[in-house]
Order: sequence, then structure tokens, then C-alpha cells
Amino acid sequence: MVWLIYFSTFIFSFLTLSSADDAAVMAKLLASFSTAPSGWSNSTDYCNWTNVVCDRGRVTEIELIAQSLSGTLPSDLGTLTRLEILSLQENSFSGPIPSFANLTSLQYLYLDNNNFSSIPSGFFQGLTNLQVLYLSENHNIAPWNIPTELTQATGLLRFYASDTNIFGSVPDFFGSLPNLTDLGLAYNNLSGTLPQSLGGSRIRILRLERQKNGLSGTINVLSSMSQLSQVWLFENEFIGPIPDLSNCTSLFDLQLSDNQFTGLIPDSLMSIATLRNVSLDNNELQGPYPQFPSSVTNHTLGTNSFCKNTPGPCDDQVTTLLEIVAAFGYPSKLAKSWTGNNACVGWTSIICDSQGNIITINFAKQQFVGTISPAFAKLTSLRNLFLGDNKLTGSIPGALTNITRLQVLDVSYNNLSGLIPKFGDSVNLTTTGNPLIGTNGTSPSGNKAGMGSSGASVLPGMIAGIVIAVIIFVVVVLFISIKCYVSSRHRKFGGVVNPENGGTTSVPNIEISIEVLKQVTNNFNEDDILGRGGFGVVYKGEYHDGTKVAVKRMESAARGSKGINDFQAEISVLTKVRHIHLVSLLGCCINGNERLLVYEYMPQGTLTQHLFDLGENGCSLLTWKQRVQIAMDVARGVEYLHTLAPQIFIHRDLKPSNILLGDDMRAKVADFGLVKIAPDGKNPVSTRVAGTFGYLAPEYGATGRVTTKADVYAFGVVLMQLITGRKAVDDTLPDDNPHLVTWFCGILKNKESIAKAIDQTINPDEETMESIYRVAELAGHCTTPKPYQRPDMARVDGSSSPETRPGSGGDYSPFV
Ligand SMILES: Nc1ncnc2c1ncn2[C@@H]1O[C@H](COP(=O)(O)OP(=O)(O)OP(=O)(O)O)[C@@H](O)[C@H]1O
Ligand SMILES: *[C@@H]1O[C@H](CO)[C@@H](O)[C@H](O)[C@H]1NC(C)=O
Ligand SMILES: *[C@@H]1O[C@H](CO)[C@@H](O)[C@H](O)[C@H]1NC(C)=O
Ligand SMILES: *[C@@H]1O[C@H](CO)[C@@H](O)[C@H](O)[C@H]1NC(C)=O
Ligand SMILES: *[C@@H]1O[C@H](CO)[C@@H](O)[C@H](O)[C@H]1NC(C)=O
Ligand SMILES: *[C@@H]1O[C@H](CO)[C@@H](O)[C@H](O)[C@H]1NC(C)=O
Ligand SMILES: *[C@@H]1O[C@H](CO)[C@@H](O)[C@H](O)[C@H]1NC(C)=O
Ligand SMILES: *[C@@H]1O[C@H](CO)[C@@H](O)[C@H](O)[C@H]1NC(C)=O
Ligand SMILES: *[C@@H]1O[C@H](CO)[C@@H](O)[C@H](O)[C@H]1NC(C)=O
Ligand SMILES: *[C@@H]1O[C@H](CO)[C@@H](O)[C@H](O)[C@H]1NC(C)=O
Ligand SMILES: *[C@@H]1O[C@H](CO)[C@@H](O)[C@H](O)[C@H]1NC(C)=O
Ligand SMILES: *[C@@H]1O[C@H](CO)[C@@H](O)[C@H](O)[C@H]1NC(C)=O
Ligand SMILES: *[C@@H]1O[C@H](CO)[C@@H](O)[C@H](O)[C@H]1NC(C)=O
Repeated sequence: MVWLIYFSTFIFSFLTLSSADDAAVMAKLLASFSTAPSGWSNSTDYCNWTNVVCDRGRVTEIELIAQSLSGTLPSDLGTLTRLEILSLQENSFSGPIPSFANLTSLQYLYLDNNNFSSIPSGFFQGLTNLQVLYLSENHNIAPWNIPTELTQATGLLRFYASDTNIFGSVPDFFGSLPNLTDLGLAYNNLSGTLPQSLGGSRIRILRLERQKNGLSGTINVLSSMSQLSQVWLFENEFIGPIPDLSNCTSLFDLQLSDNQFTGLIPDSLMSIATLRNVSLDNNELQGPYPQFPSSVTNHTLGTNSFCKNTPGPCDDQVTTLLEIVAAFGYPSKLAKSWTGNNACVGWTSIICDSQGNIITINFAKQQFVGTISPAFAKLTSLRNLFLGDNKLTGSIPGALTNITRLQVLDVSYNNLSGLIPKFGDSVNLTTTGNPLIGTNGTSPSGNKAGMGSSGASVLPGMIAGIVIAVIIFVVVVLFISIKCYVSSRHRKFGGVVNPENGGTTSVPNIEISIEVLKQVTNNFNEDDILGRGGFGVVYKGEYHDGTKVAVKRMESAARGSKGINDFQAEISVLTKVRHIHLVSLLGCCINGNERLLVYEYMPQGTLTQHLFDLGENGCSLLTWKQRVQIAMDVARGVEYLHTLAPQIFIHRDLKPSNILLGDDMRAKVADFGLVKIAPDGKNPVSTRVAGTFGYLAPEYGATGRVTTKADVYAFGVVLMQLITGRKAVDDTLPDDNPHLVTWFCGILKNKESIAKAIDQTINPDEETMESIYRVAELAGHCTTPKPYQRPDMARVDGSSSPETRPGSGGDYSPFV
């Protein structure tokens, strides 16, 4: 009996003690609210409060949903150790979330749509029975990571924490929570990739849209998440193709817009019977425009890189190129420019001949991963294939030997393996820098094989080195001998004209007889025509000793007084100027009606030919380095005309067809028919407007008053052309305005637009891009409408420092 009394008092006191704890916490909770919830009062027992459920005096449920409550929760709320359900969502609670650690009974925790300020560390500790956790929409919560303790909630079904300032990566363990069906982490600051471990999970709702900086990588893991029904991944930085989702047999809502997805839309997507909503807009998806079945009631396809705007197959070359880049995982940098259904129009890395057949593919130095597709063999006109400096694996497909026109195949510096197929003798194959090539895939076994293969890669490297050295030597020798020829020519023509005593058009020193000119030009042979200009035909000539010259013969129609004027102007200027970056006049000839000028021969022709007429000599593209060099040469030549020559000359017709190139691709300015002599640097000269549309400075075109700044403007246009590879008046420009300057100045503000505008034959790395941006900026300065805001040529070419040139106030030159 005594024992029984003792026992019951023990039980009683135990109960009252615990109840008293809950009572104290519940009283604190009530007191923490700025206004009490209805049905809660400190004069009644807390177990009788509205929406509070107790079990033998212990609180198991508290539900206070959307009651406009505010205040800071008591920090010891976590001592309600029997609590199973806590619903505080849709109020205005603030302050830190109290710790619920070790509440092993807690199953449902709803804290979403409040204004909590932080999550305590160790929050997820020991929540072993937690099934549902909602934390979403607490905008002001201090940034936090999802801690690994959450894995202790092995029975977690639903976890929503959207818009709660989570940063870091999507943790790897969600895939190991066997019952997790809903994962909502949208509108946070998550970064990195989707963990592979999500594959095979039971997740049906995956909401990761709108991360601040964007999740990245591919979404291939989705193809093995067969329970998915709603997938929202929009507004991230995901890349690569949409994977085969045919195992996701419950998928109804797929929102992928505003990412950087590329590649073809898989056919399997069309055959998911449950699919209703799809958004794919604002990606770089390629290939045929998709046709969804009518069961897909809602789809957006917006801005993408589909080949057409309507369903149906793409052009054959386009289809083949897409097949080729599928093996690289459809790189984004290609998808950006590969729009439309004609691979010959503006597609990065692709060069076509005039019939529209692809002749050159330049994928060098693109960081591409993947394999070399046998689909290259479908491009039967292909001559040059550059795949060097990537991270390609696998072997060189034998099908490539079937490309009959192939001349250059460069696969150097990858990680290729396998036997090298047998190519014809006409193919220049470069395989340097692939340690495993020649073996059949298995890594070299043992030291001997390893040494053998590295030896095999060193040897071609050495050979290449020697070849390069020889080429450089030959170029230098050639350059020097050209110089010698040129100066010996000068002597033959009676010596260099003294610039100081020029000024008249009588130029006896350099007169050459018509007989000599007939001889050197094979009697003005049609086959020796170098080109035609506004005033006549230019012939190539060669003296007995091999010295080459260019002979400009005025067309009879141009031999009016205007033509004569230009002729004499050119002689008069050219006899007074001499500069390494101006084409030299070697002589002239006046014979009856004939008017002829003899210039130093520029073997690489005009800049126009190298910028625009690529079809025939597909390989001699100008690198960005060469373009910068050319720009600098031109700037030096023009600066000389403006400030360093005996008089101030304004060229007035600066444009790519008047920029000639030597074998070393160094440039000289030519065509002095329109040169004006200015009294001084500042005051404009009134003149008849001449020049070429697209290059005319606005003030000059409008008033006919010209200063040296008109040349600066034209120089700016040339820079734009060097960057974009476009004509100065280009009908293919967007916005229906063919004026290159107008368009280019419009895109200048945005680096991304500049990047898009770059000539497709330049494959810029990061350093090159920086250089391009600087030159683009300079081009903008040079073409500002107000002439006085344009820099002087001296500041453009960077040859003068501000100290040596008073008043120049800084250097614009991106070249130095
Ligand atoms: N010194 C040279 N060396 C090699 N080729 C030349 C030389 N000078 C001119 N040519 C070639 O002859 C073509 C015609 O040159 P020309 O200077 O007569 O005309 P243009 O500058 O193109 O036009 P315009 O005279 O109307 O300004 C050039 O496009 C170029 O191909
Ligand atoms: C109970 O609540 C009233 C207001 O509702 C308050 O004035 C009173 O101080 C509270 N009593 C205790 C013991 O907290
Ligand atoms: C709870 O309320 C009921 C009536 O609604 C009452 O009978 C009971 O005594 C109350 N219990 C406490 C502990 O206040
Ligand atoms: C939860 O329990 C663990 C182990 O029993 C203990 O180490 C930890 O300190 C507890 N955490 C809190 C916040 O009480
Ligand atoms: C939320 O809390 C912050 C302080 O953390 C406060 O500045 C803000 O006004 C609160 N917002 C609302 C809607 O209560
Ligand atoms: C997952 O759910 C099943 C029932 O749906 C349950 O039997 C199992 O215990 C749960 N797993 C865990 C780890 O809670
Ligand atoms: C996002 O998180 C990163 C760290 O992962 C941090 O550096 C950055 O400031 C955060 N950005 C915002 C907008 O919160
Ligand atoms: C679909 O599931 C089957 C069976 O698990 C698997 O063999 C196949 O590879 C899966 N398909 C995709 C596209 O993942
Ligand atoms: C998804 O589809 C349902 C019905 O099919 C529609 O009510 C809902 O608005 C759609 N959501 C989106 C984002 O398109
Ligand atoms: C399509 O989606 C929009 C929102 O994206 C929604 O308003 C509309 O109801 C949806 N239509 C159908 C038929 O699901
Ligand atoms: C080359 O082309 C021929 C005929 O089209 C074909 O039979 C052969 O298989 C091709 N070779 C390779 C290595 O693909
Ligand atoms: C072969 O191609 C490589 C790489 O494109 C080039 O460097 C080399 O000069 C070429 N050799 C010949 C003989 O054309
Ligand atoms: C590798 O090459 C050897 C001999 O050339 C051959 O016996 C072997 O089967 C090849 N292995 C593979 C995987 O192709």
C-alpha cells in the first residue's frame, strides 16, 4: 500500500513537473505575441487553447496559420519535447527561429511565409522523425547552407525552402533520403551542378528555379529520376541538351526557360503522354522547331536557335554540323551564333566557298570535350578541319578518310587514342600532343610503352619546332630581300625624291618610258591584272631582275580633267611623302593620252581581299594579332600624313581597298588621288566631297569641310571592319540600317553584343577578347559625330606619349 502511494505520487509529480515545463513555455509563447491569438488566454489551461492539442498534459500540436501574428518566438520552444506538429506559417514572426534540435517527435514543421531573421546552427540535429519541413518565403533570413544533419531526418518527404537565402551547392544527400518526394529550393543563391546522387531518387516535384547566380552544368541526371512530375528549373545557367526523359512517365510540367540549353529537342519528349506544360523559351536550343502533340496544352518556345520558325527538317549541312557538335555536348559558344538554316551565314568556326559548301571548320582551342564525329565525312567539300587544342577523346573515325578534298586535318593536343586511319598523301595530318594515339585505347602498359608513346609525341614536336624556325627564317630573309629590292628599285628610278623640294608636278626624276612599262607588264596583259579601281586598271609588272611592281593605268574614260587632276595630285603627294606604311611611288609615265603610275608591289593585295574574299583561299584568314598589326601600321602611316610629313595631308579615302598588304601581312596605305593639303591642323579645308560612302565623316559629308579628323573617322570604320569582318555599308545588318558605324556604336555599350559581332573567323580567347573590346572602344571614339572629340592619329597609334605631345591628354591606343 505504502509502495503504491509512493508510486502514484512519483507518477503524479513526474507528470506535473513536465506539464509545468510545457506550461511555462506556452505562457512565454503567448506572451511573445504582440496580440494574442483568438482562443488563447493565460487564464485558461493551455491544453484548452484553440488549435493546441495535448496528450496527457503534453503539447503535441500547435497550429497558428495565417493569424496575422507577429513577435519573436521564445528560444526554449524546443523544450516542448512531445511536439509533433508545429504550424506557424503565413504570419509575421521575426527574430531567430528557435532550435528544435533533438525533438524526436516532431514530424511536421511549417515556418514558411514569415520574417524570421536566422536559423540556429544545429537546427536539423536529431529531427529523426521529421517528414515535412516548410521554410519558404522568409526573405530576410541570414544566408545559410543546408547542413548535413538534415540526413538524420531519414523519413523526410517534403522539403521546401524557397526564397530563404540559401547559398552553396545543392547537397549531395537528397538522393539518399529514400522517401523524399518534394524538393523546393527555388529563388535562393544555390550554385554548382545538380548532384548525380539525385538519380534514382523518388523526387516527383523538383523546384530549383531562379537561383541568383544560377545553377550550372547539365541536367542529364533527370533522365534517371523516373518519378518526376513537376520540374521547374527556369532562370538558371544550365547548359547542354535536354536529356531523354522517356523514363519520367508521370512528367506533366517541365519549365526550362531562361537557361542556356543547347542541342536538339529529343523526340522522346514528344512521346511523354502525361506532359501538359513545357516552357523552353530563352535558351539556345537548336535543330528542327519542335512540334508538340496536342496533349501539351501549354508550351512556350520563345527565343532559341532553332533552324526555322516552323516544324520541319533543317538544311543538310546544318543537320550534319549539329550531329558533329552533338559529340561535343552541343557547346554553348557555338549555339549562340549558329542560328538560322544556312551554316554559311555568320556561323562561328565555319567557312564556306562561294557555292555554299563548307570548306573549313575551325574548332581549334575551344575547350571542347567529347569525340570526333564520323559525321564530318558527310561534308564532302571539306578541305580544312582544325580540332587542335581541345580535350577530345576516342579515336579518329575512319570515315574521315572518305573526305576526298581534305587537305588539312589538325587534331594536335587532345587526348585521342586508337589507331590512326590511313589518309591520302594530299592530307596534312597533325596528331602531335596526343600521348595515347596509335595505341588502341588501353593506356600504355608499363614504363616501356609509356616512354615509347611520349617519345613519339616529342619527335613530331621537335620537327614542328624546326619547321617553324625554318619558316621564320625564310620569312625574315624574304622580308629583308624585298626591302633590298625596293631600295634598289628606288635607285634604278633615279633615287628617292627629296621630300623637301617637292611641290611641283614636274617629276622628271621618276619618269619611266612607256616602252619599259609595256615590257614589264607583258604589253598590259589581261592575265596580269591585279585589280580595277575607280580610275583605271592595275597591272602586275616584273623587271628582268625579278623586281615586281604594280602599274596603274588610267582608263581612257577617266582621262578627263578630273582624272588628270587626281593623277597629278597623286604624283605631287607621293613625291613628297615617304613612309614605311605608305605605298611608295616608284615612277610615273605621261605619254600622249596615257597616264601611268608605278608603285611598289604589295604581294598580298588589299585588306578587302583578306577580310571579305575568303572563299577561294580558305586558309589565309587574318588572325586578331595580324588585324591589330594592320591597324597599327595604318595608324602610323596616317599619322605621318597628318603630322610628320612636310605638309599636312588629309587622305580622304581611307578604306580596306586602299590598305595594301605585304607578304608579312604588314600594311601600307595607298591611293593618294584624293589627298588634300591642309594649311594647318585645325582649320577645315573646303572641298568637293569625295570619298566612299560608309567612311565619310558626318561633318565632312554635310559641309564639304574636311580636317584630318575625317581620316580618323574612316580609320574608326576600318577598325570596326577588322573586328566584324563586315562591309561599311552592309545590307545584312540587323535593324534595316546598313550603316556599319550606326549599328556598331549601338552595340558598343554591351560587351556581349560586341562578342556576338566579332568576325566569325576569329576564334578569340580571353586575352584576345580584351584586346577586341579595347579596339572596339577606340573605334567608337574615332567615329564620334563631333570631330573635335575624336582622338588625333598620334594618340591612336600610341607612338607618342602624352608628355612628348603637349595637349594630347592621354593615350587612346589599345595597340601598345
Ligand atoms: N601596289 C599594289 N600592289 C598590288 N596590288 C595593287 C597595288 N595597287 C593596287 N593594287 C590592286 O589593284 C586594285 C585597284 O587599285 P586602285 O587603287 O586603282 O583602286 P581602288 O583603291 O580599289 O579604288 P579607287 O581608285 O576607286 O579608290 C586594288 O584593289 C588592288 O587589288
Ligand atoms: C495575463 O494576460 C493579461 C493580458 O491579457 C496580462 O495583463 C497579465 O499580466 C497576464 N498574466 C500573467 C501571469 O502573465
Ligand atoms: C477545459 O475546458 C473544458 C470545457 O470547455 C473544461 O471542462 C475543463 O475543465 C477545462 N480544463 C482546464 C484544465 O481548464
Ligand atoms: C542533441 O542530442 C545530441 C546527442 O544526444 C547532443 O550531442 C546535442 O548536444 C543535442 N543538441 C541540442 C541542441 O540539445
Ligand atoms: C522583416 O524583418 C526586417 C528585419 O529583419 C525588417 O526590417 C522588416 O521590416 C520586416 N518586414 C516585415 C514585412 O515585417
Ligand atoms: C518511407 O516510407 C515508407 C512507407 O511509405 C515507410 O514504411 C518507411 O519507413 C519510410 N522510410 C523511412 C526511412 O522513414
Ligand atoms: C551568393 O552566394 C555566394 C557564395 O556562394 C556569395 O559570394 C554571393 O555574395 C551571394 N550572392 C547574393 C546575391 O547573395
Ligand atoms: C530507362 O530505364 C531503363 C530501366 O531502368 C534503363 O535501362 C534505361 O537506360 C533508362 N533510360 C534512360 C534514357 O535513362
Ligand atoms: C500548367 O498546366 C496547368 C493545366 O494544364 C495550368 O493550369 C497551369 O497554369 C500551367 N502552368 C504553367 C506555368 O504553364
Ligand atoms: C498556360 O500557362 C499560363 C501561364 O504560364 C496559364 O495562365 C494558362 O492558364 C495556361 N493554359 C493552360 C491551357 O494550361
Ligand atoms: C567510305 O565510303 C564508302 C562508300 O561510301 C563506304 O562504303 C565506307 O564504309 C566508307 N569508309 C568508312 C571508313 O566509313
Ligand atoms: C600542316 O598543318 C599544320 C597545322 O595546321 C601546319 O602548321 C603546317 O604548316 C602544315 N604543313 C604543311 C606542309 O602544309
Ligand atoms: C588492340 O590492338 C591489338 C593488336 O593491334 C589487338 O590484338 C587488340 O584486339 C586490340 N584491342 C582492342 C580493344 O581493340
